[in-house]
Amino acid sequence: MDIFIGDERACDERGAQEFAKQISSKPASVLGLATGSTPEGIYERLVDKYKAGQVSFASVKTFNLDEYLGIPINHVSSYSYYMYDKLFNHVDIQKNNINLLCPCPNSIDKECMDFEAAIKACGGIDLQILGLGPNGHIGFNEPGTPFESTTHLVELTESTIEANSRFFESPDQMPRQAITMGIKTIMQAQRIILMAKGQKKAHIIKEALTGPVTTRVPASVLQLHPNVLVILDRQAAAML
Ligand code: F6R
Repeated sequence: MDIFIGDERACDERGAQEFAKQISSKPASVLGLATGSTPEGIYERLVDKYKAGQVSFASVKTFNLDEYLGIPINHVSSYSYYMYDKLFNHVDIQKNNINLLCPCPNSIDKECMDFEAAIKACGGIDLQILGLGPNGHIGFNEPGTPFESTTHLVELTESTIEANSRFFESPDQMPRQAITMGIKTIMQAQRIILMAKGQKKAHIIKEALTGPVTTRVPASVLQLHPNVLVILDRQAAAML
């Protein structure tokens, strides 16, 4: 496991460089993407790099980690909206190469199975970016999720509802359920970047990277992956 520590700007630049490097070595790369506040700076830099002619998404395929359930797809707090707003609307990605979980599927089971099948049909994820929940979740795999899990329905924990209700107009609008790639799905990516920023993540970063590998801290499973880069700002790295 490699660890990069820097200020926020350096972290965003390092993350964006990793994506640009991946795409230039394989233009038809399959990228696993995350939402939330952590990767926003990476997407901003990737848009800059695209505008500067340094990277093209023309052949890239993407899969997003997760999506809330029970909100319209165009809801401003949906992960679909986030991805178009922060990245897809500003680069040359082809719409049919974008794979987002639906927040209002007819069948949740079918949605999960189709998503897994689509990842397999593309040959698997080359590079996956992950943020980290305050409870150690990756995607929306909350503490206790089996390491063998594939894409599935999740009941969000109080910790996640509290952490993410800031993205909704009022806390009661925050969905209580979501669909997420499973831990097994994430672990099958060729390369993973785990990124965390801010003092609020320092404790859980320490547990995830140096504590026991346990389903109580889902991100601790990354200790078992052969190709992980951890990108931390100084606050998130403070307890290492
Ligand atoms: C988002 C996701 C979540 C977030 C995590 C951290 O797609 O899968 O695991 O990465 O909740 O969120 P932020 O970055 O907002 O602190």
